[in-house]
Amino acid sequence: SATVEYQFEVATMNVTRLCGSKSIVVVNGQFPGPTVSAREGDLVVVRVVNKAQYNMSIHWHGVRQLRSGWADGPAYITQCPVQPGKSYVYKFTITGQRGTLWWHAHISWLRATVYGPIVILPKLGVPYPFAAPYKEVPLMFGEWWKADTEAVISQALQTGGGPNVSDAFTINGLPGPLYNCSAKGLCHTFKLKVKPGKTYMLRIINAALNDELFFSIAGHTLTIVDVDAVYIKPITVETLLITPGQTTNVLLTAKPSYPGATYYMMAAPYSTAASGTFDNTTVAGILEYEDPSSPSSAGFNKNLPLLRPTLPQINDTSFVSNYTAKLRSLATEEYPAEVPQEVDRRFFFTVGLGTHPCAVNGTCQGPTNDSRFAAAVNNVSFVLPTTALLQSHYTGMSNGVYSSNFPAVPQSPFNYTGTPPNNTNVSNGTRLVVLSYGDAVELVMQGTSILGAESHPFHLHGFNFFVVGQGFGNFDPAKDPAKYNLVDPVERNTVGVPAAGWVAIRFRADNPGVWFMHCHLEVHVSWGLKMAWVVQDGSLPDQKLLPPPSDLPKC
Ligand code: C2O
Repeated sequence: SATVEYQFEVATMNVTRLCGSKSIVVVNGQFPGPTVSAREGDLVVVRVVNKAQYNMSIHWHGVRQLRSGWADGPAYITQCPVQPGKSYVYKFTITGQRGTLWWHAHISWLRATVYGPIVILPKLGVPYPFAAPYKEVPLMFGEWWKADTEAVISQALQTGGGPNVSDAFTINGLPGPLYNCSAKGLCHTFKLKVKPGKTYMLRIINAALNDELFFSIAGHTLTIVDVDAVYIKPITVETLLITPGQTTNVLLTAKPSYPGATYYMMAAPYSTAASGTFDNTTVAGILEYEDPSSPSSAGFNKNLPLLRPTLPQINDTSFVSNYTAKLRSLATEEYPAEVPQEVDRRFFFTVGLGTHPCAVNGTCQGPTNDSRFAAAVNNVSFVLPTTALLQSHYTGMSNGVYSSNFPAVPQSPFNYTGTPPNNTNVSNGTRLVVLSYGDAVELVMQGTSILGAESHPFHLHGFNFFVVGQGFGNFDPAKDPAKYNLVDPVERNTVGVPAAGWVAIRFRADNPGVWFMHCHLEVHVSWGLKMAWVVQDGSLPDQKLLPPPSDLPKC
């Protein structure tokens, strides 16, 4: 294994999209940001130099960070922000992962423009468990606001409503031809140029802030081989679903001979929320075949018929549940699925939107957030501290920073998917769950319909988990566990908690530190749909959190 080193210079830059220019925060003058490439087992060293006027912090989404929580990145969870003019070196080893992950800013809404791919190749000499593709291409979905995204969220938090939805989706930063741009060329379109008969691996990443997306390419199928940097049993689909935070590697085989057509690839949202609370536009890119009759780089025929794929309806929940049920771990001797068969700690979390008491009945309790939207896990709307939780934990100074009494079950049980309002009470808190090293954890996340049933893509830092079960309605502890898949469940770091349904995950707490867990819809994070786990050190030397690096930022 090797050491791969990167320098990330964070600065603002003017970028034009949808006929307008604005100043955005980017890395190394690139939007989207540079690709971090490594092999499984490599040590990755990234020096982040903050030349922007914003506090910054970078998260390596999905990287296990075994014992290296100091490099995980969520601001006020594992580190204080890197202040303007300061720098911080993130150092971590890629352990037991291969596929695609990604990095993004993890402070406020800066990830809207500060993101890029992480490509993890297998160890040198180790092949893929499928035929090697001719070429590999990252494909990142994002969202574009004409307004400044920091202004969008701070305004929403002050006035208490939902923020303005984005003006466009993007593929690799480009909104594509379906948006209305007055001047020709201003919509900048992502194009994938292919040769007949060749197989391409698309490393698909959903970096959008607030939208789960369907994706399809007209006239072609997609063979999914890896999700969240874990191989799966290959499945071939026409359309895939990807939630914010997730990654999906697909093989795309170009037609055997020049087809005389050009194909749209399109992504559009999946949502059961009220329209107007999300961006329901469609982004397109173009799949273009190299024309054998004019093989120069200019030899792409511009006047071919352009075919569109058919995407599911925006609220096609049954498509989504069928799709997610098809994803299975490879579970071979070489790539085993180490699903905990016994459980040490069981949790049942409600996840959903709620309101602070006065928004329902007018009885305000306290100065902050009272009349605004809130989102909560087990009725607790999580509040970030003003210092970093990991430091407080490591130095044993958690008093006044966080408490260890996160409720293992909701305040009072209720009909979670029944007619609202039911148990809408939310209180603010910085409350954590403490786990012992090595605990086998089962967590059932129940989506509620308090303010409309909506799917929530939950992301756990520091771990992969196995998705052992999912269903609609209220989770039934007497019946549902009997249907768990403990043999080859999909292993990932982000899972959609179904709208008006539940999902059960299991993981082994083998990574000491403090680990954030949250909905990856950014507006829900802002409203408090997040919490954190403390995993204590084990007794053996290699079961302990490493000491903090000397350049760890201070608050
Ligand atoms: Cu990709 Cu805590 O996030």
